[in-house]
Amino acid sequence: MNILVTGGAGFIGSNFCDLVLKQKEVNKLFIIDKFTYAGLEENLEHVMSDPRVQLIKADVCHTELFKEPLLDANYVFNFAAESHVDNSIMSPRDFIQTNIFGTFQILETLRQSNNLKKFVQISTDEVYGSLTNTALPSTELSPLQPSSPYSASKAGADHLALSYALTYGLSVTVTRSSNNYGPRQLPEKFIPKIIINALNGLNIPVYGTGKNIRDWIFVEDNCKGIWKAALSKETNKVFHFGADNELENLDIVKIFLEELNQKESLIEYVKDRPGHDFRYSLNIENTIKTLNWKPEESFHSGVKKTVNWYQKNLVWIDKANEKLRIKHLEMRQK
Ligand SMILES: NC(=O)c1ccc[n+]([C@@H]2O[C@H](COP(=O)([O-])OP(=O)(O)OC[C@H]3O[C@@H](n4cnc5c(N)ncnc54)[C@H](O)[C@@H]3O)[C@@H](O)[C@H]2O)c1
Repeated sequence: MNILVTGGAGFIGSNFCDLVLKQKEVNKLFIIDKFTYAGLEENLEHVMSDPRVQLIKADVCHTELFKEPLLDANYVFNFAAESHVDNSIMSPRDFIQTNIFGTFQILETLRQSNNLKKFVQISTDEVYGSLTNTALPSTELSPLQPSSPYSASKAGADHLALSYALTYGLSVTVTRSSNNYGPRQLPEKFIPKIIINALNGLNIPVYGTGKNIRDWIFVEDNCKGIWKAALSKETNKVFHFGADNELENLDIVKIFLEELNQKESLIEYVKDRPGHDFRYSLNIENTIKTLNWKPEESFHSGVKKTVNWYQKNLVWIDKANEKLRIKHLEMRQK
């Protein structure tokens, strides 16, 4: 089978490519990435010697640059996105462009495909918006109430993808996961920032009171779920991937500080993010039942694996930080 992955040089996309290449039935893996500040060549270096891999540097908004691979692919996984909520508040344009228009472009091209078995749109629990402490976890049928330009752009793309299933008969699956953590996540995100700052004895910024709640899933568990969802006979469905591991942000910081043998005095409370959702929570019962999937990594061992990876990849951290420095400069100049 031929696979096409967009956003394969990013955090989850690169972990997903590793999983794809472990599958014997995969003949070809096309990786499409624009290499924005979030895409690192280092994330794919180790797969480039695999003869099944073809890397194409392209923007998902320009599908004419990878039309042939798109039409050759049996399974298309759309990970490419602008993914950082804070950036979407400062400059939302790229989010609308890549996350909505890019998805549209892929879907439009796939209408011509004779080979497509499944288009998988990679989405997020953030599309459901903020939950209270006592609210029940969101189900696949809960209304979408996104709060940020990021989550609104993801919700828009989800709707588009599912509409192509109903309108044009495309075989589509939407996967929504909770917060991922693990190797190769950019230092702009919460957990890598905690680890890297703690390793350098720097303060760790925590928004507001630190009471906001997120569920955390180890990236490999999400990737395994996405793969199962693609191969499943179920189409035109939404699947949830969470780990039943809801924690307050402050607790997350404390867990990592303890793992890194650092003191809690590094915690620095900073002004809250505008429209900061209080809690996300996914009901994963249907996914467990339908896909025979469940999260395998305990949070305790996921934390150890993640810390260990960052401790061993200091050169990667330098490269990622340099890309972030340039990105912030560009955003300030806009
Ligand atoms: N990280 C999470 O916790 C999380 C949780 C739920 C869902 N998601 C979703 O999973 C997907 C991947 O997230 P991530 O954390 O790996 O993101 P990331 O920011 O680490 O990676 C995004 C990748 O997409 C590429 N990209 C961006 N714009 C592009 C464009 N126009 N054309 C081609 N490539 C482009 C980047 O270069 C990068 O390689 C996203 O769709 C995101 O919305 C992420």
